[in-house]
Amino acid sequence: MAVLFLLAVSIGCVLARPSSENVTPVEVTLYYETMCPSCRLFVPSQLLPAYTDTKFDYTSLISKLTLVPYGWVKVKNATSHEYQCQHGQSECEGNRLHSCAIKYIPDQLTTLEYISCLDNLESEYLAFESSVYPIDKCQDKLPGGLYSKIIDCYNSEEGWTLFQINGEKTTSFFTSPAYVPYVSYNNKRDDDLADSSIEDFKMTLCKVAGVVNWQDCSSWN
Ligand SMILES: *[C@@H]1O[C@H](CO)[C@@H](O)[C@H](O)[C@H]1NC(C)=O
Repeated sequence: MAVLFLLAVSIGCVLARPSSENVTPVEVTLYYETMCPSCRLFVPSQLLPAYTDTKFDYTSLISKLTLVPYGWVKVKNATSHEYQCQHGQSECEGNRLHSCAIKYIPDQLTTLEYISCLDNLESEYLAFESSVYPIDKCQDKLPGGLYSKIIDCYNSEEGWTLFQINGEKTTSFFTSPAYVPYVSYNNKRDDDLADSSIEDFKMTLCKVAGVVNWQDCSSWN
């Protein structure tokens, strides 16, 4: 019995790590808006850690990552760029800045690091309904020259165009109400998987991608 027990314990240890056999990488899309508190938590505490994990290569489970910063926006007049974002004007600014950053930052890890840095700024968000989005912060997360491209995009018609494209993506995906942040896999709507992703992205990703021992994936260890 003792021998069996020890064997079980050691197998348990060996298994306490996801297996990358038989997985099918999935497309991951994150719908979010820049000021909602749980959106600000998701990238720094769940998505970025999946990209930087040193124990398991979660990125091997993702065939494509798409970030869609938009959320719940009332379009008053698209021609004259009059929009009402859920958390005020600063959120529209943030959504435009993120849209430009996502376009111009060439690699996804840098994109997630930049977004996490913006999400982690505390004082800028205290009076967020009336404050402005901290568009000039976190430049040190970007390779040289990139910030000027992002801010040129933000200050031009291109920023609005990207904002509108993300609006079309969001409204065509959500034909009935949902919460953001919302994670979809392979462009399908599944509210249970979306909820479970907010609780534990790594575990949900493993499950959807077919990792046999998906229970050993966790955002919280
Ligand atoms: C929207 O804005 C454009 C440009 O300012 C203006 O010409 C148009 O009349 C506006 N439309 C509405 C419905 O207010």
